[in-house]
Amino acid sequence: MNKLIEKLNRLRKERNAVILAHYYQDSIIQDLADFLGDSLALAQAAKKTKADVILFCGVHFMAETAKILNPDRIVLIPDLNAGCSLADSAPPDKFKQWVDSHPDHVVISYINCTANVKAMSDIICTSSNAVKIVNSVPPDKKICFAPDKYLGKYIIKQTGRDMVLWDGSCQVHEIFSELEVIKLTNKYPEAEVIAHPECPENILNYADFIGSTTSLLNYAIQSSSHEFIVLTETGIIHQMQLKAPQKKFYPVPNLNGCSCNDCPHMKLNTLEKMVNALETLHPQIIIPEDIRLRALKPLERMLELS
Ligand code: 13P
Ligand code: SF4
Repeated sequence: MNKLIEKLNRLRKERNAVILAHYYQDSIIQDLADFLGDSLALAQAAKKTKADVILFCGVHFMAETAKILNPDRIVLIPDLNAGCSLADSAPPDKFKQWVDSHPDHVVISYINCTANVKAMSDIICTSSNAVKIVNSVPPDKKICFAPDKYLGKYIIKQTGRDMVLWDGSCQVHEIFSELEVIKLTNKYPEAEVIAHPECPENILNYADFIGSTTSLLNYAIQSSSHEFIVLTETGIIHQMQLKAPQKKFYPVPNLNGCSCNDCPHMKLNTLEKMVNALETLHPQIIIPEDIRLRALKPLERMLELS
């Protein structure tokens, strides 16, 4: 392990590389990253970087976002198969039909989608700015929102805006067990329930606080509570424990009975694959220039509003 870390540290210097990582990565990857964040913070960091190489430890749509913002830099992902059920739910041909059948709608896409889908959208949002982005659309305009129906429903509740929703979901957040939430709240009556808005409404109904991964982390640090029932991917608990070591964090079992609700895509990335990517400069994210340019517009609109 130490040898691999030494090799990674040598290669990141030689390549003038920056390592960006999402909170859902394994703790060892989080500890090695130059910058750690939620989807919005990672997109903002990718826009700012001066490094020649970006090693993106997250899933494909995140690395693609970094490439859309940095066409002249090499963007690597440790495992090219690290996908996302939300991005997979919106194939470009079906998405095009949907957009074409709602010609008078503003199309807002959650950042968890492919570059092709971004290219057909008017504006992008993440879980940290979705309410703000939707509120930025003039009230007389109709809205289509894709691909997360649960995040969409949550935003409708927050903003009072009626939106046409794409039928997609996150395979991690949609399988939390309501029964297990009830059991945990009974077992730890003092604990606050904190949840990501990708969870379905029946789960969000138990939450004392709802927000993106960064907001959940900040809330857990700042809250006067000492115990938290955490309804998001378990990777974030590593940061919660580091930043608030005196507090207790309880993950919630999913419908399969597993108490570690891990994203199987995020967890494909490993230290070995990071070293391999920096050594071989492969796998790289490549996006056709016409799609990149069209995807850049709605992404820049989001960054301007954030
Ligand atoms: P955020 O990073 O916006 O919290 O989204 C979580 C997620 O599921 C990323 O894939
Ligand atoms: Fe996609 Fe859900 Fe995994 Fe995030 S946690 S990458 S939304 S499948």
